[in-house]
Amino acid sequence: MDFPGPDGFLGTRASLMLDVVVLAMAVVLVALAWSVLQVKRGNFQLHKWTQVGLTVALIVAVLAFEIEMRLYGWEERSAGELGGQASPLTWQVLYVHLVFAVTSFFLWPAVAWRALRRFPSPPAPGEHSRSHIFWARLAAIIMTLTAVTGWTFYCVAFVR
Ligand code: HEM
Repeated sequence: MDFPGPDGFLGTRASLMLDVVVLAMAVVLVALAWSVLQVKRGNFQLHKWTQVGLTVALIVAVLAFEIEMRLYGWEERSAGELGGQASPLTWQVLYVHLVFAVTSFFLWPAVAWRALRRFPSPPAPGEHSRSHIFWARLAAIIMTLTAVTGWTFYCVAFVR
């Protein structure tokens, strides 16, 4: 069907940026796991730059994604017809996803910003460690839940 805006490449009804973000979340989780592994090995500098890169990439991706959603919408694609509306289940899954996504959007950059300000350069364990380990682990868990609920939304909205 000829929906407004660019089509995605995964062969579903979703748009280009939806497909980009769905794939990007998988890359983010793998990079996050690798980055935490670097901490365990004492490679704090590598952890730092991976996390800073992820933070910038996430902000850029979310902005591009939001612009596309505001310009072209997603409900018609979800419904599968022009002028159609998304199902009640799709909205319920979206609200659950948004709770985690909005929390991530604020928590993640805050954790990165505080780490940059409070760890020494080059980074090493210190006074900020206790706080960072608590908030950074929470940010990592919420980011994982953002991805899982995001993939669920994608399947319910654009694949069924
Ligand atoms: C959103 C961004 C970040 C996340 C999600 C994150 C995640 C984590 C996690 C989960 C740990 C604990 C690993 C464990 O369980 O032992 C950790 C440790 C650490 N992170 Fe980050 N990190 C972020 C940004 C940064 C930045 C920007 C720096 C450097 C400026 C940094 C420096 C460190 C250091 C030095 C440790 C080791 C702390 C210690 O064991 O005493 N992190 N990080």
